[in-house]
Amino acid sequence: MTENAELINQARQARQQARAPYSGYTVGAAVLGTSGRIYPGCNVESSAFSTTLCAERVAIFGAIAAGEAGFTALAVATKNGGTPCGACRQVIHEQCGDIPIYLVGENSGQPVKFTTSQLLPHPFGPDEI
Ligand code: THU
Repeated sequence: MTENAELINQARQARQQARAPYSGYTVGAAVLGTSGRIYPGCNVESSAFSTTLCAERVAIFGAIAAGEAGFTALAVATKNGGTPCGACRQVIHEQCGDIPIYLVGENSGQPVKFTTSQLLPHPFGPDEI
């Protein structure tokens, strides 16, 4: 079985809930909490474009609102295995720390695995303030 198969499966399922009428680019995410619970997220676009939310941040913020204290892995599902945007990388760094991030596309190939620090080297964080 693929590493973190359930997490990846839930990211794929969450993608089906995405609301992306403007870009057509649907994204699903799932974040694994230290409690063992998995929290889904999907992108939700807005006609006032800047109020759009990315799937990764929906998942992470939802998990925090549900009381999750920490995170151990994240999965992101798109049509092409795309990587998280810069804003999401910042939030992943601050809220999740250096965790594995699994990226999957629609093909049945193996997920691509990165870590937070690979995607966001030399990050800005609370220590800089
Ligand atoms: N999007 C995400 O949900 N996550 C990312 O990390 C990259 C971008 C969404 C935002 C927008 O709804 C669509 O993908 C196209 O940018």
